[in-house]
Amino acid sequence: MKNIILKTEELCVDYKKNNILRNINVEFEKNKITAIIGPSGCGKSTFLKSFNRTVEEYGGKIKGKIEFNNSNIMNIPLEKLRSSIGMVFQNPVTFPFSIYKNMTYAPIYHGEKDKEKLNDIVITNLKKSGLYDEVKDNLNTPARKLSGGQQQRLVIARCLTVNPEVILLDEPCSALDIKNTANIEKMLLELKNEYTIIIVTHNLAQAKRIADFVIYMEDGAIVEVGTPHTIFNEPTDSRTKEYIMYMKN
Ligand SMILES: Nc1ncnc2c1ncn2[C@@H]1O[C@H](COP(=O)(O)OP(=O)(O)O)[C@@H](O)[C@H]1O
Ligand SMILES: [Mg+2]
Repeated sequence: MKNIILKTEELCVDYKKNNILRNINVEFEKNKITAIIGPSGCGKSTFLKSFNRTVEEYGGKIKGKIEFNNSNIMNIPLEKLRSSIGMVFQNPVTFPFSIYKNMTYAPIYHGEKDKEKLNDIVITNLKKSGLYDEVKDNLNTPARKLSGGQQQRLVIARCLTVNPEVILLDEPCSALDIKNTANIEKMLLELKNEYTIIIVTHNLAQAKRIADFVIYMEDGAIVEVGTPHTIFNEPTDSRTKEYIMYMKN
């Protein structure tokens, strides 16, 4: 049976008087990677930011319903919602502290004081991000001394420190080279055993490599949802077909 962790019903998002997302009905399966693709400006980031209500910080107004584990997100305390549904923004930044302090920042904010527990959180989540072996001898050096690819993995590791169930990633590889992109993809394929991942990507080959499901969006609406095989090889909607053709050439 399908295990649905997130579900939208007639989801609309408006910025002021502009209707950006239009009647989105979709379900996300637990422990899967869902990739969201579509032309620039079609609403991918807005959609991602709706799940944990960060869109509201940007002046967006959510209408319709989003359910997380069968609860309306509007009934979940905001802090709980945002630790359960973690988000890594496009061009994320490491904090101007040590690697260690980047990793303990959120747990300390949430009240964790126990030194051993904090150490454990740092090590466990750096290991999950595949970064531990690279940084274990330098945990006290400034995070900003790491390479771009390492910083990107650190930001994802940092998002894991508050035990999210869902991780939202907005074009996490857009500034990375092939090797660092491969590192992130490898990490995501391992993380999906424990987390549900929703990733916006402009890289169709990436969606093909890592996604279980692909959502094609256009003009604030979902055009088509399917497996990577369906979306990339046998799309049913002519708009999907056109976009895939366009992006291939
Ligand atoms: N904070 C905002 N205020 C007003 N309009 C916005 C805001 N953020 C995005 N938009 C508009 O919403 C639309 C969708 O943007 P976005 O979700 O960023 O698209 P994508 O991520 O697919 O490129 C665009 O027309 C954009 O100009
Ligand atoms: Mg975007």
